[in-house]
Amino acid sequence: VKILRTMKRLNGARGVSYPYVHSKEGSGCYFKDLDGNTFLDFASQVCSNPLGYNHPGIKETIKQYMNRSPVKFAGQDFLVKEHGDLLEELLSITPKQLNAAFLINSGAEAVENAMKICMHKRTSSTFGISCTNDFHGRTLGALSYTHSNPVHKKGFFTVPNKQLPFSDQAPVVLEQLTRQGAKKIAFVIMEMVQGEGGYNVASKKMIRDVRKICSSNSIPFICDEVQSGMGRTGKWWAFQHFGIVPDAMSSAKALNVGATIANKKLFPVEEGAISSTWGGGNIIDLAVGCQTIKIIKKKRLLSNVQQQGMYVKKRLNEVSAHGVVRNVRGLGLMVAFDLPTKKIRDDMILESLQRGLVLLGCGPKGVRIVPPFIVSRREIDEAINIIEASIKRCCAKDFSHTGAICQFTSCTTSTT
Ligand SMILES: Cc1ncc(COP(=O)(O)O)c(C=O)c1O
Repeated sequence: VKILRTMKRLNGARGVSYPYVHSKEGSGCYFKDLDGNTFLDFASQVCSNPLGYNHPGIKETIKQYMNRSPVKFAGQDFLVKEHGDLLEELLSITPKQLNAAFLINSGAEAVENAMKICMHKRTSSTFGISCTNDFHGRTLGALSYTHSNPVHKKGFFTVPNKQLPFSDQAPVVLEQLTRQGAKKIAFVIMEMVQGEGGYNVASKKMIRDVRKICSSNSIPFICDEVQSGMGRTGKWWAFQHFGIVPDAMSSAKALNVGATIANKKLFPVEEGAISSTWGGGNIIDLAVGCQTIKIIKKKRLLSNVQQQGMYVKKRLNEVSAHGVVRNVRGLGLMVAFDLPTKKIRDDMILESLQRGLVLLGCGPKGVRIVPPFIVSRREIDEAINIIEASIKRCCAKDFSHTGAICQFTSCTTSTT
């Protein structure tokens, strides 16, 4: 409680969203907080912890850096081995046209740099395009193309941008814009599965037609894979479900560092056109990212993601027979469902937390199910049982939370 109070007082951002503090203890999908409570984690640090807690392979990697300092280098200027190792490993899982990457600090910066490299050569361009309801990050460039929640943008300047509907109308609108001057368009950026905006899966037609229009007008097409990438959907990258290859893409979260990935020819040749002091320089982050890819490959975790993802959907569809759980959707272990109202969703996430299950919201009334890739059927059953019981309680007339939890939390709406 002392730490929570300090956070509430001193944290310039949100204060306290989830009212517990992580301890170092945990194993697989479970972790303990500092008070010794055990939680089952179906939020995976907002999709950033694909291998769960205290994975032996990851711990072994981190151990190598115990007696070394600094662990952070100015990685674009002063090279470390881990930088090259991660580039090689990362580019082993991208389509061969996407053969170079720029490593950076966060998802927003990975997106921002993907947009920058695309607009750099398009000297007549005046704006970029994303979709209604997209989330691409909070730096001002990435934020300009974010449309998932007005609170993200209120009070901030944006750079010139236009929106396509996230539907089969997207190619129609894009076609109209190209007729007004394709050279004015710097890039089109999209999420194949909208994350923060509500786990909406794009249709194959929309993605393929937009890709086609971009190709025939030489407009760079960017896939934002910050949340959906690195295996979360059961393939390394969500765009692989759609049978397309983008011109550039962003990765972060589960990779443990940010990455802008494209063909080498798309990157600016001028020295300093893109850079960052710490980009490609945090040796622990780089080594963990590299090891994460190796473990996903070695343990064939993409196959577990596919199988368990299907099982999650099956179980949720069974629960939906009661009529409260709606619109079960997603790819792999990037799954969500809706509840009838925002209040019931918010209450349900808090109630599940009190029962030891960590969940995340998305969109207006969605709940994300994003466990680590190592999740088992037994853990899914445990989570679904908690979800069912929590829904039942929160749908009761005049339900409200009571007790200490109310002092701290509004943990329900997602932040990233
Ligand atoms: C699709 C997508 N793009 C970009 C970002 C921004 O990443 P970060 O929070 O690391 O800046 C996020 C974060 O949730 C995301 O989901």
